[in-house]
Amino acid sequence: MDAFSLFGPALRRLDPETAHRLTLWALRRGLAPHQKATDDPILASELWGLTFRNPLGLAAGFDKDAQVMAAMLGLGLGFVEIGSVTPRPQAGNSRPRLFRLPEDGAVINRLGFNNAGLETARAQLAAFRKAGRSAKQRAGPVGVNLGKNRETTDAASDYVLGAAALAPLADYLVVNVSSPNTPGLRALQARGELEELLGRVKAALPQPAPPLLVKIAPDLTDEDKADIAAVSLSLGVSGLIATNTTVARPGDLRGSARGEAGGLSGRPLFAPSTAVLGDLYRLTEGRIPLIGVGGVASGADAYRKIRAGASLVQLYTGLIYGGPALVPRIKTELARLLREDGFDNLQAAVGADHRYSG
Ligand SMILES: Cc1cc2nc3c(=O)[nH]c(=O)nc-3n(C[C@H](O)[C@H](O)[C@H](O)COP(=O)(O)O)c2cc1C
Repeated sequence: MDAFSLFGPALRRLDPETAHRLTLWALRRGLAPHQKATDDPILASELWGLTFRNPLGLAAGFDKDAQVMAAMLGLGLGFVEIGSVTPRPQAGNSRPRLFRLPEDGAVINRLGFNNAGLETARAQLAAFRKAGRSAKQRAGPVGVNLGKNRETTDAASDYVLGAAALAPLADYLVVNVSSPNTPGLRALQARGELEELLGRVKAALPQPAPPLLVKIAPDLTDEDKADIAAVSLSLGVSGLIATNTTVARPGDLRGSARGEAGGLSGRPLFAPSTAVLGDLYRLTEGRIPLIGVGGVASGADAYRKIRAGASLVQLYTGLIYGGPALVPRIKTELARLLREDGFDNLQAAVGADHRYSG
């Protein structure tokens, strides 16, 4: 969602990063719609001991500094993921670094983990917790997505710092090894690297530890995916998030920014990210909960992710083009599709494609 969708089409002419800053400003001031209706009970689920009143969450990158968690939950989202947070504040790449491709329903970004750092995130999360009662009573869980500073050579040490500091304030933690805009980051998805990284992060977690998830890229070989599944099963990873943005550029992109470097998100990412999600469901035999993200812009899209294996779904780019009204629309359509196919709860539909297509 950007300022366009809150304030009207005139602001569409603003560059996208300015529009995003204005949107965060408006959300902080409570200028966003607030959902009054309660969610359809068919959309509710329990995962990792947490209650999700609906499966639709905000993907990382929208609220990097944990500024608008309450406002986004207030729009009707079932959960929110803040970050990516790096230990030290970081300016990110030079501008322009965020581009709309409206013809494609897509965005390209090469922000490079611009964020205010771990101490700011910790203060924001602590204030939110204090105001917001216990996790069970809040409108929805808040996950914390961890990254690394660009200059850090021992990548694991940054994730360890983030995990140790923010675990007590996170309903779940995400090790993000899939952003394309930090050199070397995606190499952490390789088997040996991932094993070492997750081993060190797990050892650093204070008890009781929150669920630990790993967010992966869409641009993986079959061997990569098999390795990630094997490592996740053997190390007891709580969940996988599939996927981050892609460095691929489908040949049919029309937006004039299609040649920009960075990660592509939105509609063109839907099919490849859903394929990776389905592969992971199969490779983990449905034993690890998956969060499906990439190109969700309708209830039908969310439903396809769920049938492919997602227990929860996230979106970001869809909100840029669809605005806040997209949230209730997706939920209504998803509830209808579940009922049409004879499911009486969301969990029953998770991975359904794998069962019915043999
Ligand atoms: C502007 C922008 C910034 C992002 N920043 C992050 C980030 O900091 N950490 C992360 O894990 N993913 C980040 N993402 C990726 C999203 O969380 C999501 O995985 C991806 O955009 C696919 O979902 P979508 O098609 O619904 O946008 C970012 C995406 C966009 C568009």
